[in-house]
Amino acid sequence: MEKKTLVIGGTKGIGLSIVQHLSKHECHTISRGESPLSNHYALDVLTDELPEIEGLTGLVYCPGSITLKPFHRLSPDDFLADYQKNVLGAVRVLQFYFRTLKKNQGSVVLFGTVASQQGMPFHASIAAAKGGLESLSRSLAAEWAPHIRVNTVNPSLTDTSLAEMLLSTDQKRENAANRHPLKKIGSPADIAQAAVFCLENEWVTGQTIGVDGGMSTVRV
Ligand SMILES: NC(=O)c1ccc[n+]([C@@H]2O[C@H](COP(=O)([O-])OP(=O)(O)OC[C@H]3O[C@@H](n4cnc5c(N)ncnc54)[C@H](OP(=O)(O)O)[C@@H]3O)[C@@H](O)[C@H]2O)c1
Repeated sequence: MEKKTLVIGGTKGIGLSIVQHLSKHECHTISRGESPLSNHYALDVLTDELPEIEGLTGLVYCPGSITLKPFHRLSPDDFLADYQKNVLGAVRVLQFYFRTLKKNQGSVVLFGTVASQQGMPFHASIAAAKGGLESLSRSLAAEWAPHIRVNTVNPSLTDTSLAEMLLSTDQKRENAANRHPLKKIGSPADIAQAAVFCLENEWVTGQTIGVDGGMSTVRV
């Protein structure tokens, strides 16, 4: 069967790299902005009507945020905005595409963060949201087995527009690289390869895969 994969956020960063790695799949993408990619839908997944796409064998949800503030400065609205974008956006698309994914033995990939495995200052809001997403992923892997596989990839700092403000000078990039045991920050392709593995390996579900330069598990 030909693979048909919907990459929400497939126009930039990690999502675009996933699309580039899936040359054998028929890829569909959604993002708010326009894109020259074929099969692209310009819409906001949090609010707009979603397009019907039959025959989906894969779904990747990339929208996310990096909200870094001291805990005492985080408002309830900050927590709600992170939860909305990272968790409820994924819930909305997964409920919408559930039937076609089930019919086609689909595979779902979500994105968490290293900061829900390794405590990091100023990450309280995003770590709470992504931790919720990771737990959602395992719950759905159980509820939807054996029909739909669900896995989460947890990146550390990766060179995309989302991380722009953390990587805006050579000094910031060097400091960020040096915080990782492997002394580099992630590239979109580093993360995309793990997502492609989760999409394609038919005996992997309910997993969280850290692609983080060793950050979550290694001290050097
Ligand atoms: N980059 C990192 O350092 C890092 C670290 C840890 C975890 N992660 C996680 O990895 C995932 C991918 O990150 P990334 O760095 O590739 O992000 P990115 O560069 O910001 O790309 C996000 C993609 O999602 C689309 N998008 C965002 N909001 C949307 C919405 N409401 N409706 C439809 N499309 C939307 C964006 O396009 P438009 O803006 O045109 O809508 C874009 O195509 C995220 O979940 C992020 O939290 C990233």
